[in-house]
Amino acid sequence: MKPPPLWIGRLEIETPTVLAPMAGLTDLPFRLLCARHRCGLVMTEVVNAQGVTRASAQTMYYLEASPDERPVGAQLYGADPEVMAEAARCIQELGRFDLIDINCGCPVPKIITKGAGVALMKQPEKIGEMIRAIKSAVDLPVTAKTRIGLSPGEVNISEVAHAIEEGGAEMLAIHARFASHKHSGPADWDALAQIKSERSIPIIGNGGVDCAADADAMRAATGVDGIMVGRAAIGNPWVFEEIAAMWEGRPFEPPTLEDRRDMIEEHLMTLIAHFDKKNEYRRRKKNTTEESACHHFRTHLLKYLRGHPGIGSLMKRLEGIHTVTDVMSAVDEVLWPERHTEPLAAHQT
Ligand SMILES: Cc1cc2nc3c(=O)[nH]c(=O)nc-3n(C[C@H](O)[C@H](O)[C@H](O)COP(=O)(O)O)c2cc1C
Repeated sequence: MKPPPLWIGRLEIETPTVLAPMAGLTDLPFRLLCARHRCGLVMTEVVNAQGVTRASAQTMYYLEASPDERPVGAQLYGADPEVMAEAARCIQELGRFDLIDINCGCPVPKIITKGAGVALMKQPEKIGEMIRAIKSAVDLPVTAKTRIGLSPGEVNISEVAHAIEEGGAEMLAIHARFASHKHSGPADWDALAQIKSERSIPIIGNGGVDCAADADAMRAATGVDGIMVGRAAIGNPWVFEEIAAMWEGRPFEPPTLEDRRDMIEEHLMTLIAHFDKKNEYRRRKKNTTEESACHHFRTHLLKYLRGHPGIGSLMKRLEGIHTVTDVMSAVDEVLWPERHTEPLAAHQT
């Protein structure tokens, strides 16, 4: 059965699915595809609050957004409530975003050594202070994303979720793994169910949802108000359509090979246009825009083609793929091997 719309403050999300923020992946071109394929809410990758306040070129590139992807959230990391509030004010001023999300879950050393990301979970009261500071600076809804704890020996998600709600946040997304487990291992759905039962703000469940059946199972087992999908959406923006179709009781038409090819081409061409913007920000350019975009696209490409028999050969010659023509002929060879007389291995450089 279709879940009710998700309300984040006054923001209504009709289909309660969320694209997880993923550094290096959830840029504007990818978010646009997910939004078009029924993702209810998309998120930027995490951006440095200090970079926002300085309007650093790289940070502003991460904050490129489009009306066609809305609703879209901007995720910030930082340790200083005042800097976070100032960054949120700058983001609101851009007029492109629908909410501000605070990263309280990232375990990478670059972030935790600054006392930000998941390090904030050690100080629930500071998270509350941060939310209050941001809320007094902006009208946009404020949300947070956490882990279930730092490690199995440091489980304080109840306390953290309490501080987040008391601070005035309008939604909490929980990645149901410990920070010490990074992104591997099973997600702890019991922890999601517990926090959902303890809190009144919407709780979004995240971790290990690979398909529509997983999304439904997580909702049924935990009662969460929405589902956040990360890695399963890479190379498969259709996963959101699959979830929406299941909830609406409609059959889901899986993409054909032609649909897949079209999506890959569109994604890559949009990425090249997006990289043109990046080049405006970059002073030194080692590669052409097309080369940089094709290199960046490799992660997506392999995921779009996962499961096809030619993928192994493609992986071996990935380093030799630099242009749109290279990418698309590799795609054609993997999707329609029978049309290509030469074996893929013959192209290896
Ligand atoms: C490559 C990568 C980058 C990520 N970057 C971020 C990030 O910028 N901000 C964040 O809150 N979480 C980040 N995450 C965590 C995801 O948002 C998500 O919580 C995690 O992948 C678990 O969801 P999944 O099992 O559906 O992939 C990242 C994960 C991956 C794999």
